[in-house]
Amino acid sequence: MSPFRIAILASGGGTNLQSIIDSRQAGTLSVEIALVISNNPTAGALQRAQQAGIATLCINHRDYTSREEFDHALVDALKAAEVDLVVLAGFMRIITDVMLDAFPQRIINIHPALLPAFPGLHVQQQAIDYGARFSGCTVHFVDGGVDTGPIIVQAVVAILPDDTASTLAERILEQEHRIYPQAIQWIAEGRVTINGRTVIVTGADGPETALINPVK
Ligand code: GRF
Repeated sequence: MSPFRIAILASGGGTNLQSIIDSRQAGTLSVEIALVISNNPTAGALQRAQQAGIATLCINHRDYTSREEFDHALVDALKAAEVDLVVLAGFMRIITDVMLDAFPQRIINIHPALLPAFPGLHVQQQAIDYGARFSGCTVHFVDGGVDTGPIIVQAVVAILPDDTASTLAERILEQEHRIYPQAIQWIAEGRVTINGRTVIVTGADGPETALINPVK
């Protein structure tokens, strides 16, 4: 059987990309990372990919006059690489119908909050400011909205009394690095189906026990 091919799109440091590379090397993720694309020429993600011997491409959104034109360039590169799944990992561009139509139900994203709470940016600070007791991270299919697509898997992280946005972000990232490779593996195994807003993961265990914060 030909390997399941993924592309990863990242704008920043690329720790999620690294967790995907590491899971592949550890043998818990059986996919081919065909291509890493960044819109940011200085993205750490590009360096991480190059170090791992993965093909990289910088498509700078500043070189395009519209979001659609930029997305056409993405689609051309992704089609040329023959990818089965597009993985957004800290990709700081809003994608348009050009991408969604080219890869229907084949684009996933990770968001550092428990959606539908706190979509958008600076969400760790928002969760703290709101007084939430828990936040976490969400892997979801991408649809036409911002962080609105069907949810594949979530991990819950307790918010501690002295948390700052950065301490909370760090603990959430640890969980992102667990659930994102796992979700990709499920999709590669053909175990993930979408029924309206509900995502079914065939044969998955869980959930873990309920959490309470504070406890006593
Ligand atoms: C992560 O928190 C991810 O959830 C969000 O952007 C951040 C990317 O981090 N979408 P990294 O570049 O993978 O380290």
